[in-house]
Amino acid sequence: MKILETERLILRRFSSEDWKDLYEYLSNVKAVKYEPYDVFTMDESKQEAVNRANLEEFWAVCLKENKKVIGNLYFKQQQPDEFLTWELGYVFNPLYGRKGYATESCRRIIDYAFKELKTRRITAMCNPKNAPSWMLLERLGMGKEGHLRENMYFKFDEQGNPIWADTYIYSVLSKEWFSNE
Ligand SMILES: CC(C)(COP(=O)(O)OP(=O)(O)OC[C@H]1O[C@@H](n2cnc3c(N)ncnc32)[C@H](O)[C@@H]1OP(=O)(O)O)[C@@H](O)C(=O)NCCC(=O)NCCS
Repeated sequence: MKILETERLILRRFSSEDWKDLYEYLSNVKAVKYEPYDVFTMDESKQEAVNRANLEEFWAVCLKENKKVIGNLYFKQQQPDEFLTWELGYVFNPLYGRKGYATESCRRIIDYAFKELKTRRITAMCNPKNAPSWMLLERLGMGKEGHLRENMYFKFDEQGNPIWADTYIYSVLSKEWFSNE
């Protein structure tokens, strides 16, 4: 897997040694609130670091200054391959939020995809209640192309009923990305 660099960050494959940094944010309720999973235990984080080390779609985002993993990107080609479409996702450690790190790393991976993977379209989905997420997508220049109503659920309420959620769908096409350069 490639290593990507920005002014402040390194984007690289996970390694099993990243579990402590992973645990620091996956054990934080703020980080997992809109994710399809609950907070991770220490043991689960150890296993997750091993799993992610073997999965190309997970990119560890590290600070150049001290090598700490402060979050991750998820970037996966969608099927069928010939549609040249990738999905983008992200989870960052709340302790490192609002410093522009998510924007900086997403910009880098989008640029890499359009220039080197010959990606044509990148999509991202988020819950409309997750304002930091759709604000990030808008900062990246992605356009909102859909609002699905109560189309899915990840979590259950105290009675065990699904908590139905809406979904915003965003995208950016390579021709739009290059026209903004
Ligand atoms: C979604 C998420 C990544 C957004 O994080 P974020 O901290 O808002 O985004 P950034 O790291 O790009 O930081 C942007 C903010 O930093 C500010 N900033 C500070 N220094 C900056 C710099 N040097 N460059 C750019 N922005 C900077 C921006 O102005 C912006 O502030 P604002 O929120 O007041 O507009 C984060 O909330 C998260 O990980 N949430 C939990 C997981 C999650 O919900 N994932 C998405 C599921 S769909």
